Amino acid sequence: MTRFDTGCACCRDDFYDYEEWLMKNVHVVDHPLVQHKLTLMRDKDCSTQKFRRLLNEIGMLLCYEVTRELPVEAVKIETPIAEMHAPKLSGKKLVFAPILRSGMGFLDGMLELVPSARVAHIGLYRDPQTLQAVQYYFKAPQDVAERLVILIDPMLATGNSACAAMELLKKKGVKDIRFVCLLAAPEGIEKLRCAHPDVRIWTAAIDSHLNEHGYIVPGLGDAGDRMYGTK
Ligand code: URA
Repeated sequence: MTRFDTGCACCRDDFYDYEEWLMKNVHVVDHPLVQHKLTLMRDKDCSTQKFRRLLNEIGMLLCYEVTRELPVEAVKIETPIAEMHAPKLSGKKLVFAPILRSGMGFLDGMLELVPSARVAHIGLYRDPQTLQAVQYYFKAPQDVAERLVILIDPMLATGNSACAAMELLKKKGVKDIRFVCLLAAPEGIEKLRCAHPDVRIWTAAIDSHLNEHGYIVPGLGDAGDRMYGTK
């Protein structure tokens, strides 16, 4: 794997192997359904309607993976036949936090699996010159600090938006954040690994690199434009 340098050597010294260091917090969801749907989405001829549907479906599948280790507790119930102790979710309640606008593409699929989750909307856009994240909106549930926040954005490119969103959430007192994306660039993973080593990442694939415009290569283009047909 190419070694990218974001200028931060904070936590790397303990690790002999760069790839081991980089991948420590990353879960690549290699389920065949996810991989198949992702391939359909990457195709430049995939229609807007189909792209949106597939993103929604993958959102649901990634939600299944990111919630895999949620704690459960045994509760006593009565089936029509007998009493039993059966597992029920316990622990922190969830907030899904889409980064606008393309994070919205995952939201419906995730809410279908966890309908009681709350939603925090985080409005960030990428300055096309500097590629830095600029905030224009933030609205989260009042008790967000007590919840597990699943931050969602299909494209982890430079990592600037994801880092900015994590900083906003942490300023509100959130202690437990997981990040879900569809595609990740090694540069973005490195940025998150340095800036937020406590946050784990779930992604369907890790692509080769970013181009000079900050797009993931080979990637799938601009996820927001492809979702909404704005180009
Ligand atoms: N955002 C996108 O939508 N696509 C990329 O390739 C990078 C950032």
